Amino acid sequence: MIIVANWKAYVEDVEKAKKLFAVAKRLATTSKIRIVLAPSAAQLGLLAKGNTSKVAFAVQDVSATLGGAHTGENTAAAAASLGVTYAIVGHSERRAAGDTDAVVAQKLQHALAQGLIPILCVGEAERDAASQYLSFVRTQITSALEPLEPKDRIRVIIAYEPLWAIGKTSEEAIAAHDLAEMALYIRKVLAELLPGKEGKTTVLYGGSVEPENIRDLAGGSQVDGFLIGHASVDPHTFALLVKALA
Ligand code: PGA
Repeated sequence: MIIVANWKAYVEDVEKAKKLFAVAKRLATTSKIRIVLAPSAAQLGLLAKGNTSKVAFAVQDVSATLGGAHTGENTAAAAASLGVTYAIVGHSERRAAGDTDAVVAQKLQHALAQGLIPILCVGEAERDAASQYLSFVRTQITSALEPLEPKDRIRVIIAYEPLWAIGKTSEEAIAAHDLAEMALYIRKVLAELLPGKEGKTTVLYGGSVEPENIRDLAGGSQVDGFLIGHASVDPHTFALLVKALA
């Protein structure tokens, strides 16, 4: 199991970032869970460089541009040179800020070219009775993976994050049986892109994962781990999340 702590822009104080890292390091030594931290770009520079602990790092986004005259951009190469392992790509909060499927596909390719493991976020805004949300998620996955060679497709982690479940409470998160159904559907889509290897792809869930529901979601579905936002930025709650899976 893998837990990716998406700090978003919640952690603005450097001392808080250091404390969360210290807690994660301690948890990583005593648990079998793979812990990945995704701090802001500024904190990533501070925490990831020279990291020799069991904790791995993710960048929250990579630029659609390559290096050069692009003020304010954080390129995949810049993250890779810090020793970062993963890159979150296509998070709904980046899509809301303008990332189209085409931009997401480009970012994915930049991340892969730098040896980063992309965590591709997909998910519908709402569920409809006619199940159109399924084809929406299918398009998000295929538009990102189709341009890639099979050897790269297999490296992409899929994070299913329905928008309607993000930033709420565990009571409003997805039910375990609905997640199981969606995980199955995602693997069916992956089977078309990676025949026979769909079981090898890592599939995560994100959206209001809290200590109250993490165990239920893990046990009742086929996901390999979680992408956790608000519940990952409080040291005590984060420890509860990791221990619930241990
Ligand atoms: P949340 O966010 O855990 O606060 O719902 C998850 C995410 O957006 O990655």
